[in-house]
Amino acid sequence: MLPLFVWHNKVLNISRLIVRSLACVCALANLPAFCSKLLLIKVNEMVANKNLVLKHPKVAVITGSSVGIGFETCLLFARNGIHTYATMRDLVKADLIKNIAEKEKLPIQVIQMDIDKDHSVVDAFEEICEDNEKRGVGIDILVNNAGFGLFGALEDLLIDDIKKQFETNLFGAIRTIQQILPVMRNQRSGIIVNISSLAGYIGFPASSAYVSTKFALEGLSESLAYEIEPYGISVVLIEPGVISTSFVKHIILPYNTLPISSSLLPSSSPSSSLTAASSSLSKDSTKFSDKLKSREITKYANVVERFLSHYYPAMRNAPDPKEVAKVVLESVEASIDSARQGDHNFFRYPVGEDAKLYADAKRKMSDQELHSFVAKRTLI
Ligand SMILES: NC(=O)c1ccc[n+]([C@@H]2O[C@H](COP(=O)([O-])OP(=O)(O)OC[C@H]3O[C@@H](n4cnc5c(N)ncnc54)[C@H](OP(=O)(O)O)[C@@H]3O)[C@@H](O)[C@H]2O)c1
Repeated sequence: MLPLFVWHNKVLNISRLIVRSLACVCALANLPAFCSKLLLIKVNEMVANKNLVLKHPKVAVITGSSVGIGFETCLLFARNGIHTYATMRDLVKADLIKNIAEKEKLPIQVIQMDIDKDHSVVDAFEEICEDNEKRGVGIDILVNNAGFGLFGALEDLLIDDIKKQFETNLFGAIRTIQQILPVMRNQRSGIIVNISSLAGYIGFPASSAYVSTKFALEGLSESLAYEIEPYGISVVLIEPGVISTSFVKHIILPYNTLPISSSLLPSSSPSSSLTAASSSLSKDSTKFSDKLKSREITKYANVVERFLSHYYPAMRNAPDPKEVAKVVLESVEASIDSARQGDHNFFRYPVGEDAKLYADAKRKMSDQELHSFVAKRTLI
């Protein structure tokens, strides 16, 4: 990629020189004022366009790098020469990425960041910016990846749990974006990659909380793109379908929702951990075990269980998180290319056959057709 950047900058410099010389000739030859004005505008446009282009992406910050998509994206970026700040909330989980980085001599630095907490995000960016200042670099790429899934029927979900789902999947991304924007605006370049989901453009049964956070992230990204484009900053949305990570193990279900039959689960996802996981999120007065004894099974068991019985087996043949990492890197490269041509800076990338199928359906079908399409695939 580096030679392309060098070539591009050379062409840009030569073109600017030619246009400036022409402007001088116009002025000397006393040509009409609008002629020199036109050329001056052209020069300014070129300067602006140059600002849209990252000379060479050197530095990236990635959230939720302990496992899964975040982990693989850190490794792929670093293997492509990008100095990568692998941020994670729990540094105990940093050993694997540190060992790989050491062994392969990769430019990875692990930083603590819990995206749910204002001060943790502020501290992490302060540390990164101080370090960058010493090295004389900025921050070229932010990947908002950290997230988890709260599933189950809306009526059964506690409002506090829904707030926590938004805290991480939406407000977490807003916190990091607000920290990085002053840096990217000053350098007049940057790419913000938001890891959304297939659930960012299709509503699925038993997923309303998770789906709302991802729809919100999509709306935020679409709007933000207009504000930051003049500063040379692009927004990219990555929309994976089902991906084989530990996401499924971390899914939270309401206490009254039965764990799905273990025969349907991929081997790495013990059914017992699923509803148990919800106890750590909803720390209300009643103990989880008491709730289990007295629980009334959800009125929506039919819909929830049918959906989960489609969702969990889909994990078995799902793409590896490396596939998502590859698309993230490609999206960054495409974004740079496009900015270089002065194109409009907003992109969506579905990842996986399921995501592409649903994206296509969303584009072509009426709301009614889409509703039946989703129901047939998830509830029958
Ligand atoms: N896997 C899928 O099927 C799929 C499909 C579409 C979209 N996605 C999206 O892809 C992203 C990554 O998911 P994944 O599949 O890689 O799942 P994963 O393997 O469960 O990884 C999730 C990562 O997010 C981190 N995280 C969660 N809450 C955090 C917080 N408050 N602060 C900092 N880090 C936090 C986790 O850290 P800990 O290790 O500390 O828990 C972990 O590193 C998520 O946004 C998810 O919604 C996943």
